[in-house]
Amino acid sequence: MLRIIHRFLLLLDPETAHHCGLRLLQLRQWFLFKVQKKKMLLKMGSLHVVGLPRISFKNRLGLAAGFDKNAEVFASLASFGFGFVEIGTVTPKPQPGNPKPRLWRLPGGALRNQLGFNNLGVEAARRNLLRYRAHVWAVPIFANIGKGVNTPLEEALKDYESAALALTDVVDGFVVNLSSPNTPGLRSLQTETFLDALGKIIPKGFPALVKLAPDLEDEESRKLAAQIGESDHLAGLVLTNTSRALAESLDGAATGGVSGRPLFDRALQCVSLARENLKDKTLVGVGGVSCVAQAKAMRDAGADLVEIYTSFVYQGPRLVRELARALT
Ligand SMILES: Cc1cc2nc3c(=O)[nH]c(=O)nc-3n(C[C@H](O)[C@H](O)[C@H](O)COP(=O)(O)O)c2cc1C
Repeated sequence: MLRIIHRFLLLLDPETAHHCGLRLLQLRQWFLFKVQKKKMLLKMGSLHVVGLPRISFKNRLGLAAGFDKNAEVFASLASFGFGFVEIGTVTPKPQPGNPKPRLWRLPGGALRNQLGFNNLGVEAARRNLLRYRAHVWAVPIFANIGKGVNTPLEEALKDYESAALALTDVVDGFVVNLSSPNTPGLRSLQTETFLDALGKIIPKGFPALVKLAPDLEDEESRKLAAQIGESDHLAGLVLTNTSRALAESLDGAATGGVSGRPLFDRALQCVSLARENLKDKTLVGVGGVSCVAQAKAMRDAGADLVEIYTSFVYQGPRLVRELARALT
């Protein structure tokens, strides 16, 4: 049944498919809670990873940010076998994102998106988390937080602070997104000065990972990883976000970012480079992972946890248990 629905969704325009997918996942969520009263979502995992001692993961495979932007369907997603889920990107206020069309399928298992943080804002995410988390306490949830499109860069820190404060009691940790290519100027915050300032606004005792772009120069990523390796406040890195450079080279597009298979080699390189400099902080590897061999390669390169997005879209839920098992 799942396979048929998945094939049908792939026939639709990509954003319509995503929207229909979310509504079906909501229906599944209702069924899981009301009819099946799924106990497995309450059974704690027992896996601990370097740098995040207080969090018990179900397994090392997570869903990357951008799929469940408003925390509407994370329980349904967790039931496919994800060991943790990243919701968001959430911004302090609701925003519609960029005009459509803004999501395209590319050949070779890739996507290009320029969504621009379309989301219902932090209050809506908080309400959904409060409503559904009771059913899924056992699956760690990270909130990916971002800056509003109209917030000047000089005030970006306040956006991260208010989004984090609003969610501390409903998530297990944060991912601070400094790397979306679709919010003007955002990637210019990937600096040592901004990381330093970030460390001071994250609520005490709360793990915060920083998500960087694959298009940074190696030397720049090395410096930022080393700084996080030394930081008393930041817990690690998520590498990587989508690539603007690939959007240009693969699709001739000056906008958006590419995810999926073509991103894998660069994401793997970024993970190895960071591991050398990150010491005992947490490293989440994401970018183009589409099969067991690639998931294992991410682990071998030093990723403590691995996330997927685009391969989940193309291959559907059956991929989740296969990768989760291979990473165990
Ligand atoms: C449609 C789409 C929307 C995304 N939205 C976000 C987002 O809101 N925040 C974020 O940090 N990353 C976002 N991403 C990036 C993914 O989280 C991930 O870093 C990237 O897609 C690479 O992984 P993949 O190749 O497995 O898809 C998005 C990716 C896609 C394809």
